[in-house]
Amino acid sequence: MTLIAPSVLSADFTRLGEEVKAVEKAGADWIHIDVMDGQFVPNISYGPIVVEACKRATDLVLDVHLMIETPDARIPDFAKAGADYISVHAEACPHLHRSLQLIKSLGVKAGVALNPATPLSAIEYVIDLLDLVLIMSVNPGFGGQKFIDSSLNKITALSEMLSDACSDAIIQVDGGVNNDTMEAVTRAGALCFVAGSAIFNTPDYGKTIAELRTLSDK
Ligand code: DX5
Ligand code: ZN
Repeated sequence: MTLIAPSVLSADFTRLGEEVKAVEKAGADWIHIDVMDGQFVPNISYGPIVVEACKRATDLVLDVHLMIETPDARIPDFAKAGADYISVHAEACPHLHRSLQLIKSLGVKAGVALNPATPLSAIEYVIDLLDLVLIMSVNPGFGGQKFIDSSLNKITALSEMLSDACSDAIIQVDGGVNNDTMEAVTRAGALCFVAGSAIFNTPDYGKTIAELRTLSDK
């Protein structure tokens, strides 16, 4: 199984609803929504209002990636807006276990995102709470960056770590996923592929998503 999650960060925001519907029609599995606060990452994007707008545009799974400081204060708003998955950054959560418990208490699936420099040991004692682990393969903050190669070994190690722990958490990779990197990330063990610029910067989303899927089936 391959899950393709277009990141709307690279969508045309003058036509957000149409863009979401277009990737749905093109065969996307999830919609990835990047929330940035200008503190945890050097960029500001959008908040719950965009999650709520995506919810009205599609029935696809809404996968919310919180790149924000002190996420606990905001998690209930994103749950209410219709998030199916909420991922917090380990680096932004001094009480990561509590943050994950909060997400789950709201009936939302819980994920942890790890920056490129953050070791897998950051999730060692919360594995039982995880529905998803997001491996950042770029430094978070912007779309269109180059894939960081050391993410591949990290994904492979994560895959072993999860199977040793009998966890069925989904391995998601985010950043620089495109036709050139798709095969390698699949081989490393990822199941869910976030792609922003590689999809929204092409004219035919259906063709692009089909190509990505073919590369992951190899
Ligand atoms: C980066 C975001 C990504 C971004 C990916 O901080 O988390 O989801 O949109 O963009 P691409 O696929 O263009 O690297
Ligand atoms: Zn993201």
